[in-house]
Amino acid sequence: SAERTLSIIKPNAVKKRLIGKIEERLVQAKLDIIAMKMVHLTKEQAEGFYAEHQGKPFFDGLVRFMTSGPVVVQVLTGENAICRYREVMGATDLAKALAGTLRYDFADSITENAVHGSDSPQSAEREIAYFFADDEIFD
Ligand code: CMP
Repeated sequence: SAERTLSIIKPNAVKKRLIGKIEERLVQAKLDIIAMKMVHLTKEQAEGFYAEHQGKPFFDGLVRFMTSGPVVVQVLTGENAICRYREVMGATDLAKALAGTLRYDFADSITENAVHGSDSPQSAEREIAYFFADDEIFD
């Protein structure tokens, strides 16, 4: 069924001028953009977004990275959008990402992995509401 998922184009990908290339992959995968904004996250915003990872060894580095420059936050929609976007992204760890995925092509490290996508319907709902009001989403 049609789902929504939250995508973030992370600071390393924005810096390397990869926004257009990433958007092209979304079009190819028939993932439609129904909301988008560019934002430079504050420390508090990044910590809140990644609250489930608080206390993990990579948390401080993750927050430092995610606040190092602007990101592009988007809501994507399509059939099985959550799972399909995760396929388009590839594994979190670029060493495990399949050829042709966004992370295989654009990640710099496991932390600087170019993109984020929601991992379940519950997290998609929370993550979309974290960044977008209902009237900023165009179905
Ligand atoms: P993301 O999908 O945004 O979710 C959590 C992020 O933490 C992940 O992508 C990476 O950017 C970062 N991260 C860094 N190290 C790890 C790790 N060992 N396992 C999972 N995520 C990590």
